[in-house]
Amino acid sequence: MRKFTILSLALAAVLLVAGAVIAAPKAPGDEYVKLPEGATKTQQSIKFSHTAHGALECTACHHTWDGKGDIQSCSTAGCHTDMKEKKGGASYYAAFHAPQSTISCMGCHRVERQAGKTNVPTACTACHPKNQ
Ligand code: HEC
Ligand code: HEC
Ligand code: HEC
Repeated sequence: MRKFTILSLALAAVLLVAGAVIAAPKAPGDEYVKLPEGATKTQQSIKFSHTAHGALECTACHHTWDGKGDIQSCSTAGCHTDMKEKKGGASYYAAFHAPQSTISCMGCHRVERQAGKTNVPTACTACHPKNQ
């Protein structure tokens, strides 16, 4: 009996270690989208729900992720940190609203809406309830 317990403990330890090594990052729950460091904003902050988007591939949004390492924030240095420009790859605004990119919230929702989905907000006030 004691031998059995020790064996199961050893097995559990091995499984735990193996799990920690191969586990990909988990999607967090509802959370505010981060701002670039030191930036100020004009709209009420948005809480993003991973649960509502659970049917999508992680890389539908985390487009630079290699499937193994850490997942980076949209506003990581060198990514979407320009608070002034409304267009282009460095623009914070475009990362979430570029109408022609299905990686952006707005771009994907527009396509989903055209495909007949109704639960995909595209109106400013649907995502930003009230200006601050
Ligand atoms: C599908 C949801 C969604 C829709 C629709 C949407 N936005 Fe946004 N918006 C976001 C997200 C996400 C951010 C970045 C996170 C944050 O600001 O909390 C953002 C950020 C912004 C920002 C930059 C941050 C700030 O507060 O200054 C502005 C400006 C903005 N939105 C304006 C608009 C306007 C104007 C519209 C309508 C044309 C609109 N948004 C529609 C999701 C949306
Ligand atoms: C529909 C778009 C979308 C999908 C699909 C998605 N995420 Fe996210 N995820 C986001 C947004 C937006 C944020 C907030 C980013 C920020 O704050 O800059 C985020 C943040 C994260 C973060 C925190 C990163 C950080 O440091 O800010 C992790 C980890 C994460 N997601 C993991 C996942 C995993 C794992 C999956 C797939 C199971 C997934 N996400 C699917 C949009 C998405
Ligand atoms: C690649 C496509 C895609 C992207 C990118 C995307 N969404 Fe969505 N979103 C969807 C789909 C599909 C649904 C409808 C889910 C369902 O069937 O309930 C949805 C639904 C939503 C809803 C309604 C959820 C509810 O439960 O009422 C909100 C709010 C939302 N998205 C916000 C965002 C924000 C904010 C972003 C950007 C940070 C974003 N989405 C990016 C595809 C996308």
